[in-house]
Amino acid sequence: MDFVKYNVEGHIGIITIDRPKALNALNTQVLNELDETINRIDINQIRCVIVTGGGEKAFVAGADIAAMSKMTKDEGQRFGKFGNDVMRKLEMLPIPTIAAVNGYALGGGSELAMSCDIRYCSDNAVFGMPEVSLGITPGFGGTQRLVRIVGTGMAKEMVFSAKNIKADKALEIGLVNGVTTQEELMPTVMKLAQKIASNAPIAVRNAKRAITDGFLADMDHAIMIEERCFGDCFETEDQKEAMTAFVEKRKGVEFKNR
Ligand code: CAA
Repeated sequence: MDFVKYNVEGHIGIITIDRPKALNALNTQVLNELDETINRIDINQIRCVIVTGGGEKAFVAGADIAAMSKMTKDEGQRFGKFGNDVMRKLEMLPIPTIAAVNGYALGGGSELAMSCDIRYCSDNAVFGMPEVSLGITPGFGGTQRLVRIVGTGMAKEMVFSAKNIKADKALEIGLVNGVTTQEELMPTVMKLAQKIASNAPIAVRNAKRAITDGFLADMDHAIMIEERCFGDCFETEDQKEAMTAFVEKRKGVEFKNR
């Protein structure tokens, strides 16, 4: 892999988009490598995935404009579909994902962050959807996920105006859950990932499924999804052990992912 690194620390997988000379812009090779990396994640071992950018300046400064500049309509459509397929694969990973946004997250970079379950950013982060200033629409899910995260009014303002926003504004509108210094970003996100990984893995995965699948369903159907995810936990060893430990006043359950 030239542009995507994958490291494992215990139960945490860390994906780094590492093409700093182009501010980690997403071309077909980067998307291919990201796709392969997502395929490689062993969800029996990994309990939380962090996505971040290499270098000091950028998370991801968008899809690669130089590569897109010469695309035909068919090529543009194929590129958009491939980007969307990769973002959707990341979003549909059964385990939680956190974007550690360490600088520019523009266009496809914001879209990559929005394909994660949770977003934290450093105080130098800049978010934006500059696509219409380049004569295109957001193409890796931005028109759909931004609206679901920050609401229609704010999403439309960001997309139609192509104005960038800074970290404090991203926090105010709920695009990120927290802002840290640059130095504190990875330790903060690692701590959260470790906290997630310390919980019962099957319960966490079922909770992710209930939230993700239920969010887009009507309430009656959504509640049924929750009921199934809840009920399924009762056939796990981890549920039996955690509840027995509580009743017996034992601390420090080690979950077995069974
Ligand atoms: N595509 C290709 N190359 C990019 C890039 C991108 N999205 N963003 C930055 N780069 C390259 C620059 O061309 C430059 O390369 P060279 O050194 O070879 O000239 C290098 O990265 C460093 O960038 P800058 O010199 O521009 O750095 P800066 O600090 O002056 O500016 C920036 C940083 C404001 C992020 C600026 O680079 C910028 O505006 N980038 C483009 C951001 C953008 O418009 N992204 C959206 C793309 S469209 C999209 O993503 C579509 C979609 O929804 C799928």
